[in-house]
Amino acid sequence: MTAQVIETHPIEGQQPGTSGLRKKTRVFMQTHFLENYVQSIFDGIGGVSGKQLVIGGDGRFFNDTAIKIILRMAAANSAKACIVGQNGILSTPAASHLIRTRKTDGGLILSASHNPGGEDEDFGLKYNGPNGGPANETTTDKIFARTKSLTNYRIWDGGDVDLATLGTTHIGEMAVEVIDPITDYADLMEELFDFDAIRALFASGFTLRFDAMHAVTGPYACEVLQNRLGAPVGSVVNEIPLPDFGGGHPDPNPIWAKDLMDCMYGANAPDFGAASDGDGDRNMIVGKSCYVSPSDSLAVLADLAHLAPAYSTGLAGVARSMPTSAAADRVAAAKGIPSFETPTGWKFFGNLLDAGKVTLCGEESAGTGSNHVREKDGLWAVLLWLNILAAKRMSVAELLADHWQRYGRNYYSRHDYEAVDSEAAHGLVNDLRAALADLPGQTFGSLTIERADEFAYNDPVDGSHSAAQGLRVFFEGGARVVFRLSGTGTQGATLRVYLEQLETDPSKLDKDPQDALADIIAAADALAGIRAKTGRNAPDVIT
Ligand code: G1P
Ligand code: ZN
Repeated sequence: MTAQVIETHPIEGQQPGTSGLRKKTRVFMQTHFLENYVQSIFDGIGGVSGKQLVIGGDGRFFNDTAIKIILRMAAANSAKACIVGQNGILSTPAASHLIRTRKTDGGLILSASHNPGGEDEDFGLKYNGPNGGPANETTTDKIFARTKSLTNYRIWDGGDVDLATLGTTHIGEMAVEVIDPITDYADLMEELFDFDAIRALFASGFTLRFDAMHAVTGPYACEVLQNRLGAPVGSVVNEIPLPDFGGGHPDPNPIWAKDLMDCMYGANAPDFGAASDGDGDRNMIVGKSCYVSPSDSLAVLADLAHLAPAYSTGLAGVARSMPTSAAADRVAAAKGIPSFETPTGWKFFGNLLDAGKVTLCGEESAGTGSNHVREKDGLWAVLLWLNILAAKRMSVAELLADHWQRYGRNYYSRHDYEAVDSEAAHGLVNDLRAALADLPGQTFGSLTIERADEFAYNDPVDGSHSAAQGLRVFFEGGARVVFRLSGTGTQGATLRVYLEQLETDPSKLDKDPQDALADIIAAADALAGIRAKTGRNAPDVIT
């Protein structure tokens, strides 16, 4: 058995998006498609000769087949070793942790995150660097450039590895170490949080329902919440990971985690509900009849993280993606620590975390994390909430109400128009971009536009510039609407409309966000022509 050089030709459409390359699974399964992209990653990062990589994914359809191909290609490209989760499984935060603790040269993570899985659904692949975080744009640009010039790839002839058996085997000279995917991650969580306090909370009768949505977090949540923290068996539901996530959409939000929402808003609801997504990096937090928006969650965690041992000395700073509400900024201001506003996608937090400028980061899309890894981390967010609740002994609703009383409430919602005709969606954005300069002073109902721009980011650590990161319209009085196109969709275009309004009047903090934002929703449609240009009467998903 030897390394083979296989001739190929560039394949169009291999441009990494917000989080690596996402395509329909059948596209990834086309001849040479996966192999071309993997070789382009290897070449784009300067080759993998002598390097050590972590490889794992969320267990969706094609995960194990793809991992075996990647291993054969790594061997043929003279990699020194690959560390692989048993059965090809690693949650995204667990992979990030392994890349860091084992001091590797990075890793390949196979996931399409919250997108459905299966032969007719979605698949994805991304490269994370030695810091454990998603590759920055300079690197993803190199990878994309390579996809356009590739003429061959290298793959080992033979070398089928048994991913089920723990231990080290070899493909040619390259070592393949199959490891238990759970223990290291669970140990890290035990270091960060006050497990005794959380154990005491459960022992006092506090009840929890964690919905793993048949995705990768199930085994991690069972180990941490049930085995180590003493939550009764059965607290973690839908805990068996399935290649198609049981036919569900593993996205932890009120729409796709409806069973959990119904339970939490029903009679005899548990004290605390939570869910995670396909690859375990997103989280949803919900108390008894009390959904916590991700933007609010970030603000509450920024305010109270010091109650957990890992953050007891306070936070260096807080970062949020631009479309995320400004709730966390006001906490940072009150604490006298810096806050940063980055483009969408976790890759922009890496530099800030590496440079020690921030400790906590978050996105409105149910992503929260800290400097413990370089990815967002679903179970970590759940544990920080539990640690805070164990220290405060308040309900989720009480904690949130208290937060709003002290800081005001950023009413917030995101409206998604999915699988819109790509030309129509781009047309809408282009028209709005062209109109930005004329918007200030225009009125829509009771709202007057103060300023409008296209968000661009100058990375304060490496000076890199990222343009065209979303169109922002600010109204007098503090309301804001942001328009951007998704960089993770696999069908047509997804238009995301982010709506926000700050309310500081203590008597007006209990409204339904859709009611509180009604005027801004109407203004967003009027100024961008959403209905007229997309042909849609209403968003597909409201979070
Ligand atoms: C979406 C979210 C973004 C998140 C990304 C990966 O990207 O909006 O916050 O980082 O998924 O989980 P989008 O589809 O908007 O480009
Ligand atoms: Zn995810």
